[in-house]
Amino acid sequence: MGEIDRALEGLARRIGAGATVTVLTGAGVSAASGVPTFRGADGLWRQHRAEDLATPDAFARNPQLVWAWYAWRRERIAACQPNRTHQVLAAWKARDHTLSVVTQNVDGLHERAGLADLVRLHGSIWHLRCWASCPTSPVRWRDDRVPLPEIPPHCPHCHGLARPDVVWFGEPLDPAVLDAASRAAASDIFVSAGTSSLVYPAASFLPVARARGAYTVEVNIDDTPASDTVDLVLRERAEVVFDRLEQLLGAR
Ligand code: APR
Repeated sequence: MGEIDRALEGLARRIGAGATVTVLTGAGVSAASGVPTFRGADGLWRQHRAEDLATPDAFARNPQLVWAWYAWRRERIAACQPNRTHQVLAAWKARDHTLSVVTQNVDGLHERAGLADLVRLHGSIWHLRCWASCPTSPVRWRDDRVPLPEIPPHCPHCHGLARPDVVWFGEPLDPAVLDAASRAAASDIFVSAGTSSLVYPAASFLPVARARGAYTVEVNIDDTPASDTVDLVLRERAEVVFDRLEQLLGAR
């Protein structure tokens, strides 16, 4: 661990000196829990076409197919547990509220680890909303039943189709969520963990933080387009890095 350990000691010193920290997480931080990533070796986009499953047109064309895929993902994720990264970030946030966590993940593992005030850029696989946005339904509702009683599920208010409350390709992010993420990008230290840095606007927060003078860190087992732009690359698994960082921070 040599070089990475020394780098982590330096990072822990920066954090310990009262720096504000934001961590942006992607599918790679849930990989250790058994949740498939999108673009990794066994990633979901290697087996499926995103445009067939994660776009409004795909849903309009074949809601049954899209829901069968989300129902499979829900069942898969329901069997997974938060890993060390989720646990460390939740414990860190509990003792230091200046930590911000912004996630692209919809799996709910940060929340299950007890992390408060999570900024969820792409929604939640455990929430549904009315496909027709009918006036009598709430904006979204939680339904974490596995399996769902019917596929596709229906809006309890207008009895039309319900859709997963996740952001699909080509859809805008919630402006309030974007605003919260932009505020979080004003931190002293910005850590991008477990993301391929390919999807926008999520991938824009690292360069925004850097432009504002943040010390930037990437935690990833592979190279990404962001790797050459950050101050520190930790080419290691997130669950190893955050476990070590917690030991160093806890020892302070
Ligand atoms: N530790 C650190 N990094 C890891 C680990 C790990 N244990 N395992 C995998 N990775 C890295 C991979 O090398 C890859 O760079 O995590 C990254 C995962 O990238 P993606 O699968 O592209 O996931 P993500 O970046 O979160 O995707 C962004 O794309 O499909 C959309 O909406 C979906 O939120 C998702 C968005």
